[in-house]
Parts: sequence; C-alpha cells; structure tokens
Amino acid sequence: MMSGTLGVGHHYFWQGLDEYWIAIGGIFSALEPLPLALMIVEAMKNQREQAHGGADFKFGTPFMWIAGSAVLNWIGAGFLGMVINTPTISYYSHGTYLIMPHGHVALLGAFGYISLAFIYLASRANALANGYEWNEKLSQYGFWILTIGVLLFAVPTIIIGFEQAKLATDVGYFFARTREAVQPLEGWMWARILPDGLMVLGGVIILYDLTVKTFFAKKEQA
Ligand code: HEM
Repeated sequence: MMSGTLGVGHHYFWQGLDEYWIAIGGIFSALEPLPLALMIVEAMKNQREQAHGGADFKFGTPFMWIAGSAVLNWIGAGFLGMVINTPTISYYSHGTYLIMPHGHVALLGAFGYISLAFIYLASRANALANGYEWNEKLSQYGFWILTIGVLLFAVPTIIIGFEQAKLATDVGYFFARTREAVQPLEGWMWARILPDGLMVLGGVIILYDLTVKTFFAKKEQA
C-alpha cells in the first residue's frame, strides 16, 4: 500500500507539484518491485498446486495469462520502472525513450494481460457450460508471439533511451529532445519493426482466437 500510494508520487513533480515529490516518489516506488515479485512466487505456487493436484484443470488458458501478467508486471513495472525511478535518473530521463520500455511492458503486462485473462476466463466458462470445443494451441501462439514481441521491443528503446538520457545530462535537456540528438540512433529505431510486427501479429491472433472461441465455437463431439 505504501509503495503504491506514495510510489506513484514519481509522476507528481511532472504534473506541476513540488520538487520533494521527486524524492518521495523515487524512494517509495523503489519498494514496488517487492510486492510484484511476491506475485510471481504466488503464481508459481498456484501452478505447482495444479500440477500436483492431479485434477483435470480446465482453466489453463486464463491461468497462462494471469501468470504472464505477474511476470511481465515484475519485468515492466518492477525492473524497468526501477531503471528510471531514482530521483536523479528520473529528473534527466523524463520524456525520453528511457520511459518507453517501462511504460509499454508495464501497461501491457500488468493491465492488458490481466484483462485478457478475465476475457479468456469468461470465454472458457461459456465453452464449458455449453459443451463447446476448446483448443489451447492458438491462444498459446498468440501469448508467446505477443510476449516475445513486447520484451524485444524493450531492447532498442532502452538503448536509445540510455543515449538520450546521457545527452540530457551531458549537453542539456533541450538538445536531448531534438531530432539531431536521436538521428544517429536511427538504426535502432528501424530495429523496432521486428518486435512491433510481432506485437501486432500476436494481437491479431488473440482477437481472432477469442472471437472464434466465444461466438463461433462448435459443439464438442460426444
Ligand atoms: C502496473 C504498473 C505501472 C504502469 C502501468 C506504469 C506505467 C507508466 C507509464 C505509462 C509511464 C509514462 C508516463 C509519462 O510519460 O507521463 C510511466 C512512467 C514512470 N514510471 Fe511507471 N508504471 C507502473 C509502475 C511503476 C513502478 C512499479 C515504478 C517504479 C519501480 C514506476 C516508475 C516510473 C517512473 C519513474 C516513471 C517516469 C515518470 C516521468 O518521468 O514522468 N512505474 N509509468
């Protein structure tokens, strides 16, 4: 509770509040990876319980998204958030590429994946109640393509971000945000085609899979 409520203060200075919010936000959000790591431990314990339980677990697909959410939440919010939240780094990196890997992996991982988990949960319950066919393969392809895509996306953006944040400290805030500053890093920007493409592909597969499973599923053969 403390790490979340005071930790979110790392945004307040940039919204126009007093300077001390950079320190309060930076210190308390440094504690945020801890509860996020505990969520991964919880997901692992749950998975072991299912595996050893012996029962025919019918909600494997939604669980995959919940476990994925815990892991990407830690990587995106916990680890990549930690890269930018100490007060000095936060001061110089605001509005640079260094925020992008964090913002994208955290937002998609924490909220996107958990939303998809609940949609798959509802769809699975619907399939069980009506005796519809359920195939996990396509959901798994969608999951892995999207996950690999978003993790690879973090690589070029963090490299550009380090260079841009370094320019902000060495040359100045204004220069770091000009076209000339990021022009030499053009190659890394083009490198985004692969991860961005994977993310789009993963999204299309998931949309197709959910639509078919929820609205056009066939009755299971007796
Ligand atoms: C699910 C959780 C989280 C989500 C969805 C999230 C998302 C975001 C987004 C979208 C931004 C960009 C905001 C902007 O440019 O105005 C951002 C900035 C930031 N986040 Fe997070 N974040 C999360 C958790 C965390 C955690 C746990 C930390 C620290 C460990 C953290 C540290 C930061 C910092 C320092 C910034 C930069 C603030 C700025 O320069 O304006 N975030 N976050």
